[in-house]
Amino acid sequence: MATISVDQKACIRCGACVDVCNIARVFELDEGGSVAVRPEACWNCGQCVAVCPTDAIDHDGFPLEDCPMIGEKDIPSIEELTTAYRARRSCRTFEEKPVPREILRELVSLARWAPTAQNSQSFDWVAFDDSARINELSTMTVGELGRFVRLARNPLAVPFVRLIAGRGVAKELRKAKPLVDGLAEKLAQGQDPVFYHAPVVLIGHSPAANNFGRDDAIFAAYNLMLAADHFGLGTCQIGFFQIVYEKSRRLQRKTALPDGRKAQVVLALGYARHSFRRALPRRSPNLSWNPR
Ligand SMILES: Cc1cc2nc3c(=O)[nH]c(=O)nc-3n(C[C@H](O)[C@H](O)[C@H](O)COP(=O)(O)O)c2cc1C
Repeated sequence: MATISVDQKACIRCGACVDVCNIARVFELDEGGSVAVRPEACWNCGQCVAVCPTDAIDHDGFPLEDCPMIGEKDIPSIEELTTAYRARRSCRTFEEKPVPREILRELVSLARWAPTAQNSQSFDWVAFDDSARINELSTMTVGELGRFVRLARNPLAVPFVRLIAGRGVAKELRKAKPLVDGLAEKLAQGQDPVFYHAPVVLIGHSPAANNFGRDDAIFAAYNLMLAADHFGLGTCQIGFFQIVYEKSRRLQRKTALPDGRKAQVVLALGYARHSFRRALPRRSPNLSWNPR
């Protein structure tokens, strides 16, 4: 349980902590100021400490020395934000140049500022920066997809595949033979059709029981992708690997994630061989109001 106290001398009874904690309802205002009446309900989001205008709240999870002030100059302008969003591109061509682990550590560290459901912060990463291991993963991905396709095309196995994967997936798999043949051909030519010879593959993972693990992962991954641009690094989400991975015990064993963890997002990362000169237009999303 969190240990929370409010310095009544410093508290100005503004009620901000009561307001921001309106779900857990840890705080109540009394004559003297705010009081942490239900610390057992705290889910450690830290918003009370972040909002208090007089630093009156002492929360053992958020010592003030770990909570720097946010100044106006720390908020990026809308132009800066837009440029960062628009300049990011998926990278599929990488230089044969290792990425310093120090930079990877920094990227992972920056990614943590993304939100997580109930502030669980239970999201972690596994990095592969050994080209032999990455090649092995690529080769296995294509091999496993090939195995699934062969199964789906085997008349004896069709009912079984339909049962396990569902009718739609079984049908897609039957049609995927040309795709698999093409990928196998690329592998045979020394290409990497899965990770594009990226020097680093990052797998973001969270506890398998976390219902919002995928959501947490996507926010963190996007933070990381935007930050990677700053270091001249290109990134690409590799959903293809993930689709095969989710069905393949062999691939799952190969990545050796810690027990009870589920891969939620997979990124290829490295120094981009080409820099993009232009931002591209995007479809303007529909926005409807109060539909019935
Ligand atoms: C969920 C998701 C899965 C993706 N999977 C792959 C993939 O397996 N291989 C790949 O080359 N690109 C993959 N991409 C990258 C998209 O193709 C790319 O984002 C899209 O074409 C737009 O290009 P941009 O990222 O340069 O803006 C994926 C992107 C997302 C969001």
